[in-house]
Formats: sequence, structure tokens, C-alpha cells
Amino acid sequence: MKIRKAVILAGGSGTRLRPLTLATNKHLLPLYDRPVIYHAIEKLVDAGISRIMVVTSPEHIDSFVRALGSGEHWKLKSGNESQIQITYGIQNKPGGIAQGLYIARDYVGNEPCILYLGDNYIEDNLGPHLKNFKSGAMIFLKKVADPERFGVATLGKNGGVIRIEEKPKKPKSNLAVIGLYFYDNTVFEKMRDQKPSSRGEYEITYVNNKYLKEGALKAVVLKKKWTDIGTFDSLVETSHHVRKSAKKRR
Ligand code: TTP
Repeated sequence: MKIRKAVILAGGSGTRLRPLTLATNKHLLPLYDRPVIYHAIEKLVDAGISRIMVVTSPEHIDSFVRALGSGEHWKLKSGNESQIQITYGIQNKPGGIAQGLYIARDYVGNEPCILYLGDNYIEDNLGPHLKNFKSGAMIFLKKVADPERFGVATLGKNGGVIRIEEKPKKPKSNLAVIGLYFYDNTVFEKMRDQKPSSRGEYEITYVNNKYLKEGALKAVVLKKKWTDIGTFDSLVETSHHVRKSAKKRR
């Protein structure tokens, strides 16, 4: 079944960006000329996605509605559903990525979906990967210098995922699992017996490992630029990068 819907997570605490995030949300901070979350929306719309749920905290939801509206700032390049529809979900407390996705279960219904962590800046085109997705789950990886900060995937000889470890002390590869996931319609079933991890969060690695055990997890290594806007340095560095492409855009 073709993926029509995406869920963008835009909650979290943003503790590493304090005091910038004391009064606002990380995803509304500027990446040069636009809020961080605009990039996630554009990436999805460019790949043909027209139905998006943004999940965020009760404190910031009104700011998101002001920044994004019902999706009227964006249009699909082609296709019948040229109008973008943005709807909103509320995560009362940042209880983990899997919990954030679970909030969208009625919205997604019995369909496959994309989960996009709104602080990820991704330059690769997602369209071809969407076309290749048939069932199971697809995760996206990027070579990084500091894999111990991320979920880390080990790939086998045929390119399949053998293992994912959450923030390992001694990483077995330099391939970080980034904040983009494609799931089939069994994703919510896989969360049914999930318990919070030792750090008190509903981890998305738990869900991905369920697909892995079923032999239904594929991985794609992204080639172009990727960052997550979690720190002052990545916010500034990505802003400079966006400035260059914004000049071309204008
Ligand atoms: P993180 O960067 O792991 O967490 P954070 O945004 O709270 O930042 P910090 O570590 O500085 O406190 O979150 C990754 C992404 O997932 C980000 O886009 C926020 C989102 N998220 C939620 O929407 N809900 C959640 O419960 C969590 C944990 C994250």
C-alpha cells in the first residue's frame, strides 16, 4: 500500500538549546530564513506527501498553528491531492519517540506511514525510497563521527540490518539511525506491550527491533547532507548551509 501520511514529531524538551527553548520550541527556531520544521514539511511535500500530522506539546501547539496553519503555504507539485492538509496532535509530556508516534494512531489508521523527527535536516530526495517501500519498515542511516550519541546499526554482507543498539559505549559501526522511518500498517500493533526503557522513554529502537526480528527491516544509507538541530553548533552550521541554498532559491 502506498504511503500517503506522515507524522512529524515536534515535541521534546530541547534542553541542549536552553535558553533559546525556554520560551519557544526547537522546531520553530530559525534555520536562516525559515523555521526548522518548514524543512521537514518541504521534504515530505516534495516526495508527494499531502497529509501530515504535527505532534507537539500543549505549551507550543498554538505557535505551530500560527506558523503552519492548515498547510496553505505548501502545494504538491503534481497529483490530485494538490492541497496539503496539516493536522495536530498533542503529546502531554516528552515520553519518547514511539509514544509520540502512538498519538497519531487514529490519524494513521490502518495505513502505512512516515515518521519524521522534526529537528532532522535531510537533503536526500525521499521520493525514490517511498517508491521502493512495499512492507515492513525502512530506516535511514548516515555515517557519523560520533556514533555513540545515536542508535547505531550494524549491516550484514547483503546490506541487511543485523543489529541496532541504542547509544552504545563501543559502537560496532559508524552508521547512525537518523530521524526518518517508513512503517507498514503493523507499527501500532508492535507497540502494544511496550514498556518505558531505563531512561523512562518509549524508545523507537524497540519498534525497529521488532521489525528486525521478523526479518522485515530494511536500511538505506543516505548520501547527502544530514544534521539534527539539537545543539547550538548544529543550529548555526545548518543555518549557514541553508543560507547558501536560499540564495540560489531566490
Ligand atoms: P531529542 O533531540 O532526543 O530530544 P529533545 O528534542 O527533547 O532535545 P534535548 O535532548 O536537547 O532535550 O528529540 C529528537 C526529536 O524527537 C525532536 O525532533 C523532538 C522529538 N521528540 C518528541 O516529539 N517527543 C518526545 O517525547 C521526544 C523524546 C522527542
